[in-house]
Amino acid sequence: MESNNNLILSKSQSIDSGVCICDEKGQILFALNEERVSRKKLTSKYPKLSKEITELHFKKKAKIITAGYFNHFGISENLYQAYYSDNFFSFIPKKEIFLEIARKGIILLSKLLFRNRVEHHLCHAASAYYTSGLKKSLIITMDAYGDGHSTTVSVGTNNKIKFLEKHVWGCSPAQLYARITEYLGFKSHRHEGKVTGLAAYGNPEKTIRVFRKLLWFDKKKIESARFLIRGYNKERFDELLGSFSREDIAAGLQKRCEEVTCKFISFWVEKTNIKDICLSGGLFANVKINQRIHELPNVNSVYVFPHMGDGGLAIGAALAYTKPMPTKLETIYLGPEYSDEETKKELDKNKLKYEKFENIEEEIAKLLAKGKVVARFNEKMEYGPRALVNRSILYQTTDKTVNDWLNKKLKRTEFMPFAPATLWEHKEECYENTKGAEHTAKYMTITFNCTEQMKKQSPGVVHIDGTARPQLVTKEDNKSFHKIIKEYHKITNIPSIINTSFNIHEEPIVMSPKDAINAYKESKLDNLAIGQYLI
Ligand SMILES: [Fe+2]
Repeated sequence: MESNNNLILSKSQSIDSGVCICDEKGQILFALNEERVSRKKLTSKYPKLSKEITELHFKKKAKIITAGYFNHFGISENLYQAYYSDNFFSFIPKKEIFLEIARKGIILLSKLLFRNRVEHHLCHAASAYYTSGLKKSLIITMDAYGDGHSTTVSVGTNNKIKFLEKHVWGCSPAQLYARITEYLGFKSHRHEGKVTGLAAYGNPEKTIRVFRKLLWFDKKKIESARFLIRGYNKERFDELLGSFSREDIAAGLQKRCEEVTCKFISFWVEKTNIKDICLSGGLFANVKINQRIHELPNVNSVYVFPHMGDGGLAIGAALAYTKPMPTKLETIYLGPEYSDEETKKELDKNKLKYEKFENIEEEIAKLLAKGKVVARFNEKMEYGPRALVNRSILYQTTDKTVNDWLNKKLKRTEFMPFAPATLWEHKEECYENTKGAEHTAKYMTITFNCTEQMKKQSPGVVHIDGTARPQLVTKEDNKSFHKIIKEYHKITNIPSIINTSFNIHEEPIVMSPKDAINAYKESKLDNLAIGQYLI
């Protein structure tokens, strides 16, 4: 996608650093996260390699925009942790006000020293609003923290975003979720999804009383116990939760976060009378919270930006800067692609036996129907944390045991089952209550309750609580993949296929044919289909 307009290159340096290039009208032309190039998952290093690739792609000189202020100073976390410690600034009576003045002072100084920066939560808000296709919407951002805030409420009208509220660090469920993720033995800001999966196996009623003391909704904002901000405190968690099982802890945490987030959003829907919601920020990687928001009686529609975490900040900064009229994201396939020759060269180098098919989609469908695991690599890489079938591993949904053996093969531990990719035309047969969330379900950002037919036909992708988090596939979004499921449906009468990310263990999703071949060899999958080549 080339453009004759002036170009804007925006970059972010946070968890999952990245870059994006768009034209002055806000049309996104390319986006890439550093982890895919450096092969270091969620790296927060300066996006040097991804910027180089982007500049190589677009030879024209671009204006540079940066997402976020505090990263530059590197003091956000330290300042807040010191502030919430027991004795720091204890002589100041109204510490909250002092902190807000300090925060604003740093941003003002930063604005004077560095041009063209966009505040962290404005990046989140812009990423969701400008890609939602909604002229008017209520925008909620929630994360652990960014530029001193953890939650914002704003309204998008035509192409303008107006903030109603900004709440400081600790005023979102994300920090509690991160701390409990650590307490359960996982990595925070990385494995929260495992905790969401684990939650379905526990009884929330056993631990909910503890979580009510740790997180609550107060008037118009969310509050949490301040010790959560001071750092990870195992002793304190042992005292509160030491006698409960991991499953019950995860279940109580998940339920409390759903309750509080829903109360908060309901309050702002009532107050603004805007029922179409745009969501962004790391908290909304939680597909179950998103389902609960969608089910709220006063909510009309929900759209979660596909790259909701800090990895999506670069696009947010570019959109906040260019302020286009909101349109639906034209494509999620915004990453690099490789030519036929490049692919063939890599295959030959690895001495792999392959065949070229004009109609490879039909071949893949046949293999899937025979029960083969097919790794699929095609065209441009998708943008965001989820593989959306251009860098995916495919298998049929009929096998209930697939989560055990395929995860073992891929060296992963997961509590949530694999996700299905389902033909858009068949969504009502498979899922309940999709209306108002169809657009966001193209990007695997929300769970739905499954229909009886789905539970019977596709037990491999239905969670213990009867939900699944699908990717709804349209022909317009992905012609090749739509054809694969369509062919598969012709043979089996099932409109869904398992889609899990093409990577091994904790590695980032593959980017190049070389990465794909390495992952394929290491995991010993049945077939690899790169472009039109079948191995
Ligand atoms: Fe963030």
